[in-house]
Amino acid sequence: MHVDQIIANALLVDGTGTPPATGAVALTGDRIMGVGALPGWTADEVIDAAGLALAPGFIDAHTHDDAALLGGDLAPKISQGVTTVVTGNCGVSLAPLRLAPGASLPGPLDCIADPAWFRFDSFAAWTAALADAGTTTNVVPLVGHGTLRVKVMDRIDRPASEGEIVQMEALVDEAMAAGAFGLSSGLFYPLAAAAPASEVTRLAVRAAAHGGVYTAHIRDEGDHVIAALEEAIGIAADAGLPLILSHHKVSGRANHGRSRETLALIARAATRQPVWLDAYPYAAGSTMLNERSCAASSRTLVTWCASRPEFAGQDLADVARTLGLSEAEAIAALQPAGAIYFMMDEADVERILCCPETMIGSDGIPADAHPHPRLWGSFARVLGHYSRQRGLFSLEEAVRRMTALPAARFRLADRGVLAAGAHADLVLFDPDAVADKATFADPCQPSAGIHWVMVNGVRVWDQGSATGARPGRIVVRA
Ligand code: ZN
Ligand code: CU
Repeated sequence: MHVDQIIANALLVDGTGTPPATGAVALTGDRIMGVGALPGWTADEVIDAAGLALAPGFIDAHTHDDAALLGGDLAPKISQGVTTVVTGNCGVSLAPLRLAPGASLPGPLDCIADPAWFRFDSFAAWTAALADAGTTTNVVPLVGHGTLRVKVMDRIDRPASEGEIVQMEALVDEAMAAGAFGLSSGLFYPLAAAAPASEVTRLAVRAAAHGGVYTAHIRDEGDHVIAALEEAIGIAADAGLPLILSHHKVSGRANHGRSRETLALIARAATRQPVWLDAYPYAAGSTMLNERSCAASSRTLVTWCASRPEFAGQDLADVARTLGLSEAEAIAALQPAGAIYFMMDEADVERILCCPETMIGSDGIPADAHPHPRLWGSFARVLGHYSRQRGLFSLEEAVRRMTALPAARFRLADRGVLAAGAHADLVLFDPDAVADKATFADPCQPSAGIHWVMVNGVRVWDQGSATGARPGRIVVRA
């Protein structure tokens, strides 16, 4: 057999969780042709990858990259080995929503992109724009319940009327027909907090009819986390579709340790219906600046502030002191703004990461001036800090949570494994050196140990920089 390229002598971590073995991967065009010893195979180009690990490209199960895909090279993601991003999470997708010039954008929609990006009337218009411009990574889009509320409702501080629900149902149908993989919601946010479960269920039924999933940023991740989990599980059960619990965590000092309860609840529910989860590997969260999250945190860092950009990266306590205000007054004065919240317990983070069902999702916010380090560091941190240094799980198990597991959960056709016939989404990295470099103080840092990253057979990241290639595609559902 003669192929375009053979990557030889690599430690193959194939995505399935089986122990790595040294071997070769053969590629032609955008596909993997063969994996293993490959005796007698020849290629136009043979790359010796001795001492390095080759894995399927990582799938970021939870992102807010809807606009970033159009705007830039997605360096925060490809620099850590990500080749596919799931967009539109937490109820906030970029489409379908066209904002009138000067119209205000309710948070957290304002966290994911500037108002000018909201210019796609339909989901199909956004996916067509992605196809036109090309994307660095592959895309698995979700449509957001909060976005639909802003599109069809005159005010968002009430439940949707029957007529508005019917309009939103039609918009979910349109999004699913245009390639969406499911519906997301963020009942925590003011944007959607007035929505009862029944409103979301009606939309989830439409996603289910098209074979989609439902991803949930639940109503409360603190004191009422159990009730909020039960609500999301109930919505998915009633609508008859798989549930993915977003960035699973328990927040607030009073709730430290309660991941024991939440994981037990999730495991019980999973015996009755598909209930899955994603998490990012940090004990701090990040979202719009709000009092509830500050109250649950030992420390709050400003990530962006429209009126006072110089406060990005500063401690809220220092900002309040500078302004001569209380923290609550400062929160009001800085709106709209975003923040990082130190509100979790490291033991909970590790317990959740250890759950074999936990996919890795960065939840990175690419528009932030001073982002949470999860944007640039999540995948390298799981491989370096949590797998190699802390020993929570093996290298092959870490890779499985980033590849075959999300590919199976989202039903991505021919991705997430090293296997003949699969798309050539690949990451070559040094398993002894891979490490996150992004920190809370200095968050925009590429990870160490990532040699190159390939999307559909084309290198997008090579020895420390983006190549500028845009070989990504909107993924097809299996
Ligand atoms: Zn969220
Ligand atoms: Cu999110």
